[in-house]
Amino acid sequence: MASVAFREAPVLAQREVAPGVFLLRVGGEFAAEPGQFFLLRAWTLHPLLGRPMSAFDLEPGSLSFVYAVRGEGTRLLSRLRPGDPLTVFGPLGRGWERVPGKVALVGGGLGLAPLLLTAKTFGPPLAIFLGFKDAPFLVEAFAGLGEVRVASERPGGAPGAVSGLVTEIFDPRGYAAAYACGPRPMLEALYERCRAAGVPLFVSLEERLACGIGACLGCTVFTKAGPARLCKEGPVFPAPEVLDG
Ligand SMILES: Cc1cc2nc3c(=O)[nH]c(=O)nc-3n(C[C@H](O)[C@H](O)[C@H](O)COP(=O)(O)OP(=O)(O)OC[C@H]3O[C@@H](n4cnc5c(N)ncnc54)[C@H](O)[C@@H]3O)c2cc1C
Ligand code: FES
Repeated sequence: MASVAFREAPVLAQREVAPGVFLLRVGGEFAAEPGQFFLLRAWTLHPLLGRPMSAFDLEPGSLSFVYAVRGEGTRLLSRLRPGDPLTVFGPLGRGWERVPGKVALVGGGLGLAPLLLTAKTFGPPLAIFLGFKDAPFLVEAFAGLGEVRVASERPGGAPGAVSGLVTEIFDPRGYAAAYACGPRPMLEALYERCRAAGVPLFVSLEERLACGIGACLGCTVFTKAGPARLCKEGPVFPAPEVLDG
């Protein structure tokens, strides 16, 4: 497992890939397992805490993140330009482990963030299901990594996407396991379908956290086995431990 470190990394590129959604690439040699995250900080005093972001892509000499602007921290990140410094702390958390056989990766909206590195690390055979509220973004990054299917809730449809929810285009039957990240209602719906099909589901919960290193208990989630720290025992959990059903 890669050691956890603070690094100051120069921004190599940043572009808006959908309204309010940014792809940020920083320079340096990093390591991360699929599903792990980093705390990003582009400021000195305020906000107090770094902001957790999943490792989206790792290439020789760079690490990328994809994020939506939600509040002050992500607004400051969105102002970064090439050459600006960014403090990157990680990799953190426990990611996904591949099970043998054909697996499915399912992302809802920004839930695609941990899936590219997962697809690249896992390798075939796999299928990728991506769902969007509006026009799809970053789908091209997944080309060649497995079968890719895309759904969009946009009224009237979106080019290259089936109209509807990602849970409607994903049939769990025949997969050895499914790995998902996205809004809770999507995860709950997937769990119901996976459970009915007898397919194990592993989910990444992207809820609020603070220190990121297991010290403050500010990220406690209640699992069937007792309390767990999202930043340390998670963010990936077997679905039966954290979802109703
Ligand atoms: C392990 C992990 C990985 C994550 N990976 C990504 C990622 O790859 N891409 C991405 O876009 N986001 C990701 N997130 C969520 C991201 O960290 C938050 O959106 C971000 O910290 C918000 O910071 P802010 O200062 O802009 O907003 P704040 O000012 O802190 O909050 C603005 C609004 O967003 C809400 N909010 C803040 N954090 C979250 C959250 N985690 N979930 C839902 N609502 C929230 C607040 O309640 C508030 O209404 C991840 C979260 C975790 C825990
Ligand atoms: S954020 Fe502090 S223990 Fe997880």
